[in-house]
Amino acid sequence: MSRNGLWIVAAGVAGFVAAITYWVIALALAESHKAEMVSPERVTSFIHAVIDANRANYTQNVVDKLHNQGVVEALEHWKEEKGLPLPAQFLLESGRLVAQKDMKLSFRLASLTPIYVWNGPNSEFERRGLEVVMKAPEKPFTGFYQQAGVRYFQGIYADRAVSESCVSCHNAHVNSPRRDYKLNDIMGGVIVTIPISEAP
Ligand code: HEC
Repeated sequence: MSRNGLWIVAAGVAGFVAAITYWVIALALAESHKAEMVSPERVTSFIHAVIDANRANYTQNVVDKLHNQGVVEALEHWKEEKGLPLPAQFLLESGRLVAQKDMKLSFRLASLTPIYVWNGPNSEFERRGLEVVMKAPEKPFTGFYQQAGVRYFQGIYADRAVSESCVSCHNAHVNSPRRDYKLNDIMGGVIVTIPISEAP
């Protein structure tokens, strides 16, 4: 091979090595960047964990305690009467306060057989999600949707009748369309919605 030919081969090999190196570094950087990002599934499950803990904490350490000491009761019409909000209302009220912050973040408690129609599904996706978590409550029903140019991610988490009081109150409520709840039934779901993109 001529001297020139050798130079061309050497330049070709060097170019090839440089391209591979660049590709490997770019891939490694992309991977490390990915490791720093939190998936929308994890974000909604974090938010759900906090909401769930707050409701349980409120129920056990405020409502039950004050009831046992004969101080005050949780009453549905707590705003008009001298009572505490019911745990479901405590959650819904926090959701309303968060909605006022205009972060496009929202959460609420919903059901296919709600005491109040406004706690029913707001979309076909929510209807399907509530149906799915009733049959398979171990994992949330999740997915993306688009509204007014904004992309959202929604996670729907099964809400279980963990105590006899859930069952007896819902079965006895005048508005309840369903009156055969049993302990451990899935009564509905906590729906957590987060924005994925900014408004255009
Ligand atoms: C003392 C009565 C009472 C108890 C106890 C109670 N709830 Fe409710 N629940 C209500 C009322 C009333 C609403 C509607 C609140 C509203 O929209 O203002 C509601 C709302 C809900 C909703 C939203 C759908 C709907 O029916 O409107 C779910 C899901 C729910 N409760 C699950 C539970 C679970 C699970 C428990 C037990 C951990 C429980 N509830 C305990 C009265 C009760």
